[in-house]
Amino acid sequence: MMHMARHRETEGSQALFRSLQHITAGSTAAGVDLPSPTVQRSKELRKMKKFRFQLLHRWLTERFEPCRVADIGGGKGLFAFLMQQSGWDATVIDPIYQDLPHKYKDFTNGRRVKIAPTESVPHINQAFMSIMAQDFDLLVGMHAHGCNAAIIDAAVEFGCGFVIFPCCVIDEPFYPVIGVDWLECLADYAVRQGHHVMPFRLNFKGQNIGLAAVENCQLILNAGSKS
Ligand SMILES: C[S@@+](CC[C@H](N)C(=O)[O-])C[C@H]1O[C@@H](n2cnc3c(N)ncnc32)[C@H](O)[C@@H]1O
Repeated sequence: MMHMARHRETEGSQALFRSLQHITAGSTAAGVDLPSPTVQRSKELRKMKKFRFQLLHRWLTERFEPCRVADIGGGKGLFAFLMQQSGWDATVIDPIYQDLPHKYKDFTNGRRVKIAPTESVPHINQAFMSIMAQDFDLLVGMHAHGCNAAIIDAAVEFGCGFVIFPCCVIDEPFYPVIGVDWLECLADYAVRQGHHVMPFRLNFKGQNIGLAAVENCQLILNAGSKS
């Protein structure tokens, strides 16, 4: 039973991804290399769940020149910290302040990396508001509750790129109709707002499909095919 349920989940996820490609077809900006989702066994995927920040960090830093990135709904700020370590100007925007974690795992070599108590990332302890986008080039929302539509709107208003990994539909200004996935609803909304949207997937368990509109981000010249 469990096996069948997982199988159905994978098929459902693949169908959703195809639907997102269909919704965003024609809006996609040329030149950005997208990872084709490699299928991992569910045990490996579960293990990767805690690496979502590392995976997104790698995806961005391998493709784009450093810029000013907002980690909206960033929680403990590990994603912002990793971006900062790579020379990006990163800020957490989250009404609830949390300290950085004490450590994280470098998934490329399995080593545990300590974060010194003296380390910090800039933090705006407020709910995200559109106007904040004026200080950023890229708005990132990793499972950022209640911020997805606002990120899409703010990116249009202030000419920023965005990358969102939506999860639950909480406190958003609109909701999908029955039979439409939240990601499909958001992809359609972003395309109608004029964004060049690309769906992409990172190899972690859970809500791992992202929507990116990164035409304003500067591509690294000769960035090859990366995962
Ligand atoms: C599910 S957690 C995700 C945290 C982190 N990005 C992650 O992937 O683990 C959602 C985060 O969104 C924050 N949040 C909720 N409403 C928000 C808002 N209006 N603006 C910014 N952050 C918000 C919460 O405080 C929480 O840290």
